[in-house]
Amino acid sequence: MCGIFAYLNYLTPKSRQEVLDLLVTGLKRLEYRGYDSTGVAIDSLDNKDIVMVKRTGKVKVLEDAIKEHFSGGEYSEPVLTHMGIAHTRWATHGVPCERNSHPQRSDEGNSFVVVHNGIITNYNDVKTFLSKKGYEFESETDTEVFAKLVHHLWKKHPNYSFRELVEQAIQQVEGAFAIAVKSKHFPGECVASRRSSPLLVGIKTKTRLATDHIPILYGKDDKKPSCDQDVDSSKASVLPRSDSTSEFMPEQKEVEYFFASDASAVIEHTNRVIYLEDDDVAAVRNGILSIHRLKKSLDDPHAREITTLKMEIQQIMKGNYEYFMQKEIFEQPDSVVNTMRGRVRFDGQSIVLGGIKDYIPEIKRCRRLMLIGCGTSYHSAVATRQLLEELTELPVMVELASDFLDRNTPIFRDDVCFFISQSGETADTLMALRYCKQRGALIVGITNTVGSSICRESHCGVHINAGPEIGVASTKAYTSQFISLVMFALVMSEDRLSLQQRRLEILQGLSKLAEQIREVLKLDNKVRELAKDLYQHKSLLIMGRGYNFATCLEGALKVKELTYMHSEGIMAGELKHGPLALVDDSMPVLMIVLRDPVYVKCMNALQQVTSRKGCPIIICEEGDEETKTFSSRHLEIPRTVDCLQGILTVIPMQLLSYHIAVLRGCDVDCPRNLAKSVTVE
Ligand code: F6R
Repeated sequence: MCGIFAYLNYLTPKSRQEVLDLLVTGLKRLEYRGYDSTGVAIDSLDNKDIVMVKRTGKVKVLEDAIKEHFSGGEYSEPVLTHMGIAHTRWATHGVPCERNSHPQRSDEGNSFVVVHNGIITNYNDVKTFLSKKGYEFESETDTEVFAKLVHHLWKKHPNYSFRELVEQAIQQVEGAFAIAVKSKHFPGECVASRRSSPLLVGIKTKTRLATDHIPILYGKDDKKPSCDQDVDSSKASVLPRSDSTSEFMPEQKEVEYFFASDASAVIEHTNRVIYLEDDDVAAVRNGILSIHRLKKSLDDPHAREITTLKMEIQQIMKGNYEYFMQKEIFEQPDSVVNTMRGRVRFDGQSIVLGGIKDYIPEIKRCRRLMLIGCGTSYHSAVATRQLLEELTELPVMVELASDFLDRNTPIFRDDVCFFISQSGETADTLMALRYCKQRGALIVGITNTVGSSICRESHCGVHINAGPEIGVASTKAYTSQFISLVMFALVMSEDRLSLQQRRLEILQGLSKLAEQIREVLKLDNKVRELAKDLYQHKSLLIMGRGYNFATCLEGALKVKELTYMHSEGIMAGELKHGPLALVDDSMPVLMIVLRDPVYVKCMNALQQVTSRKGCPIIICEEGDEETKTFSSRHLEIPRTVDCLQGILTVIPMQLLSYHIAVLRGCDVDCPRNLAKSVTVE
């Protein structure tokens, strides 16, 4: 998904080369989000123009182009105040190419240049309006209309401030966006805003800021008519100019500001950040940051809090691993412990989930639980549904966010809706959340990203504490989401006498999990050997049932997204209803057959496969000699309680997809066409 990074140094001398280094490093930190092209914009040497460099492909390609372009000694001269913007683009409107890369510009003179994440849905209306005013468009992007709209407003209102121009423009666009705008007419200034796409501002000063909040300024009058209603009078509600009466000023004059799509891009510079909210307009002028909103609503706070980030830069670096995904798979013995840390008391057999404890009585009274997510996050719901049904004795519905929205699913005030998302920014999940919230349901967020939109918009929630996940394919977030939902089930059954024995065995299982994951990770070499047998095949079927069906779905998703091979997770009970026709001596099959309540049924499926000359790879329990006789290729995993097996069985699948991807020469951390944080529908 697109990534925004902007850097403004005020009275803090930096050469253009240093600024460019900062911009490129910022983009590298955002690479994990997925992208296909990149670009930067800085001031020209005479400060009268803006210079842009854009490239298709990786940040490295941009970096090389920048080195070539800005090699002269004059670029190493320090500049006291400067503002630069940078972008990684994930194509939505228009193919990946330099013309469509960001920054997009307002005119040939580069008066205003814009970087944007999201989709402007009414861009055709605005484009038609601007075309009538004589604007010619050079890209296929929706972003270009924004740059040109600001330019049009500037020509019309030459006395408006930069911030007022952007405020006017955002009132006329619809959809989801985070934007940062730079202008040669307003040197050393930056204006940024967001609606449904994340954006934060990092603040760096020489000494610690004495304040922990920034007051919000509101527009003075929202009734004045606009002069631009012809953009599309049916849709555009145009704002008045807003007057500011106070502004935030850091105690020190020297200050640096970083605008970024997420904290990983700013953490090496500062840990003091402000998460912008929808329709905030953040502007820096004369080194002063102000945050504006056009209208005040009753529940608006008076200020935006300055948050101190706790994340360390080492947490987001690759360490000794070849890929972030590999590192994240091997981090799981620690990440699962972090998910339980401070929550599960193994000695007292109690669990406290601080983020939802006050809501537990209300949750216990609910009509049903709904678990909603996309992709891997959805699979964590599939994996834990059976246990939730057992321990809560409530109906549990598991929903893909996109399908849930397509169906206009009925939602009631006494529903409790869980929104599961690693990033906390997935557009479909977020929209499903808003849909349920509007209908009065209790909203519980299960996310990995503090300060994300899902976090902020939930009534309560559980932070999964898996640590930053950078590889596009989700791994450690899945096992931590899984454990978070298991912990919730345990909390819900705390006072049920009949369930105490079951709770105890699950708690014991949780206490051994980290050690057992370490054991499973020792299978790495064996899995690599199996990958060598499989990587040239076209397809891989993964079969299982009961608690391990979710592993089949998740394993198949990992194989598809990382290796571009076809793969399908098949519910073993469905074999006879169709998939068995695929099985012959050449079709690669992997089967999960564990000693749990569905063991006999799984053995049945295994026999159906072997009697069609299928030669499956079997994931079975350590020492299960009987099951192993069905195939020469097997992976043995330690025994655990049935409802936690899925945490151990998914790890060989993560390793297998990783090794197949490496053998096929695929980009493990950034699979083609995918993005880490899917902030568009
Ligand atoms: C697969 C994967 C995706 C995400 C999905 C939801 O490896 O990463 O399927 O799980 O895009 O993302 P989040 O969890 O951020 O809402």
